[in-house]
Amino acid sequence: MIGCCLKAKHSAMADSSSAAMLAPQSTGLSEVLDRSFYELVKRPTFDLVESLIISLANCYDRAAGESGLAEFRAQCQEHPLHRLVLECPFTRRAFEKPRGYAGDAVMLDYIYRPTIESLSDAGRQIFSATTSVSSAQSIAWRRDHLGTEIAKTVDDQANPKILSVASGHLRELDVVRELTSKRGVSIDALDLDADSLNEAVNSYPDFNIHPINKSITHLLKCRSRATYDLIYSAGLFDYLSIKVGSALLKKLLELLKPDGRLIVGNYATDNFGRGYMEGMMDWSLLYRDETDMTDLIRNAETSREYRTYRDTPMSSISKFRKDGAD
Ligand SMILES: C[S@@+](CC[C@H](N)C(=O)[O-])C[C@H]1O[C@@H](n2cnc3c(N)ncnc32)[C@H](O)[C@@H]1O
Repeated sequence: MIGCCLKAKHSAMADSSSAAMLAPQSTGLSEVLDRSFYELVKRPTFDLVESLIISLANCYDRAAGESGLAEFRAQCQEHPLHRLVLECPFTRRAFEKPRGYAGDAVMLDYIYRPTIESLSDAGRQIFSATTSVSSAQSIAWRRDHLGTEIAKTVDDQANPKILSVASGHLRELDVVRELTSKRGVSIDALDLDADSLNEAVNSYPDFNIHPINKSITHLLKCRSRATYDLIYSAGLFDYLSIKVGSALLKKLLELLKPDGRLIVGNYATDNFGRGYMEGMMDWSLLYRDETDMTDLIRNAETSREYRTYRDTPMSSISKFRKDGAD
């Protein structure tokens, strides 16, 4: 995907930087929190924040393995470090959940369309790290990927119909604008957040967007069939249980034309930011690896061919097409 230029610096697996060296696997959570607080108050740097994110991912894995995520969150959020990380607006918005859940479309704009805010030194370093490490790059990568797929659909087909499920601000249309001048496309944008839909419609008056201010329950009950050339959903399946996720997949496949494509994204189990997101941002997701994605697809009882693949930074994405091709 287009975000590959961001890959090298913050790839968690390949990173042998000083930040990674500062984060031994065995460090306990209290020690991580105490040490990070002490160092970040003294002299906040990007590398220290990255080191904290790596350490918290290790602690998260241990806590998850012992069914101790509630305690992990409590320990993170009761520590004085938590008040410090809330100086980062990206972290704060997830934690405070003004729209009732973490990861709303406004939050994602901190990654897609960063603006300069007046922040404390610590807030600036934390913001810079949290919105650019590989878990954030995955979000930008899938926006670029989806934009490329939409542009291809618009260029290759006459008046295609597209459905975006949990559409947020539809920022993938920024990419489409760069890739094609064609606008002969109809986009149904479904999201339960009316403000996000308004922002999408106002941001892209050059596109034919039909906002559908409903939850996925509306789709699950809908009786139409074979309507769309392209359906995609990013930033939703990580909130859905296997039961609901499979039911939704099944329905989306019914809504797809025989030669249409469905693209669904889900954060992978080794998402770089999993510990920081859970502990500091109170942003709990259902992480899935390739096997989990395959289970979702199997439960959807589809005969369509599919391919499951990873983005460059971390997320896994499943993609369907009648012939299984790209
Ligand atoms: C993480 S944002 C993703 C937005 C956009 N797809 C993107 O990737 O930038 C999740 C979006 O899902 C929407 N959402 C969450 N649960 C939903 C549901 N049950 N039905 C419809 N939309 C939902 C939220 O309102 C939010 O806009």
